[in-house]
Amino acid sequence: MEDIILDCDPGHDDAIALILAVYSSQINLLGVTTSAGNQEHSQTLRNAMSLLTLMNINSIPVASGNRTPLLRSLISGVTMHGVSGLDGAELPIPNFQAQNLPAIELIAKLVSENPNKTTLVITGPCTNIALFLAVHPDLKSKIKQLVILGGGRGVGNWQPTTEFNFQVDPEAAKIVVNSGIPITLAPLNVGFEAQLLDEDKKNIHKVKNPVGQAVAGLVDFYGLSFDSYWNFEGLPMYDPCTIAWLIDPTKFVSRNCYVDVETKGELTSGESVIDYYNITKKKPNADVLFHIDRPWFAQLVLDAVKSFD
Ligand code: RIB
Ligand code: CA
Repeated sequence: MEDIILDCDPGHDDAIALILAVYSSQINLLGVTTSAGNQEHSQTLRNAMSLLTLMNINSIPVASGNRTPLLRSLISGVTMHGVSGLDGAELPIPNFQAQNLPAIELIAKLVSENPNKTTLVITGPCTNIALFLAVHPDLKSKIKQLVILGGGRGVGNWQPTTEFNFQVDPEAAKIVVNSGIPITLAPLNVGFEAQLLDEDKKNIHKVKNPVGQAVAGLVDFYGLSFDSYWNFEGLPMYDPCTIAWLIDPTKFVSRNCYVDVETKGELTSGESVIDYYNITKKKPNADVLFHIDRPWFAQLVLDAVKSFD
């Protein structure tokens, strides 16, 4: 059983990651913190709480984090996720209150109270976790690992060489990847492989429980956001790769690499520099996921959605 805190910016693929975390008996979801990214902070908070309400969960603490990146103004993912951040789904009004704590203090509380070490999963910009590490360095030893959706080796999805989460807050991403905490990084390379194909989407549509209906609406909308130039066969599901790896790392191919983040580039700020061939001879600081067993992943998503019958 993996004790985790999910720091996310729901977000269509964040939503699937959250559903997998709630579904899996291998995951103990201690709390959810939200970040500004796909939408501004109050919207991603509401979205996380609506999703938990949809899953009939009101006992997992949720707290909102930073309104903006550490140094930069916020760029939003509205073009991909719509005005609500979860366009395409009818979601319930949250039936519980958020914690009266900022995200970093909820993380500190949960990590301190956990007798085991805690895994922090990041599926949005790294702002909250960078701040948490700066404000509570004494708790670093109680963090087991960081599992991060971010970056890409030779690919980008927001600019030619930059991935959205790292580009929103390059400084936070740089702080986090250089934290010295064990890291598993899920870059776009694996996210592009983690696709839901038309057959998978049809199977999700057949699931008549409220979670199934919501996910069907989310994948339909999200699919419209991918311009044809991507030429994907299916719908890439980035964020769920983090939780899927925690559920079964044997379904992935990874490589230990030295990773850093560019923060000064005019065109490349936020680019992850993944030293695949160890040209720098620097000690690898991340296990980077490059491939996934796609059919297994799609079945996992379907099984999770069905489990809410
Ligand atoms: O680049 C992919 C990331 O950006 C995902 O976390 C997705 O939710 C979007 O925010
Ligand atoms: Ca996200």
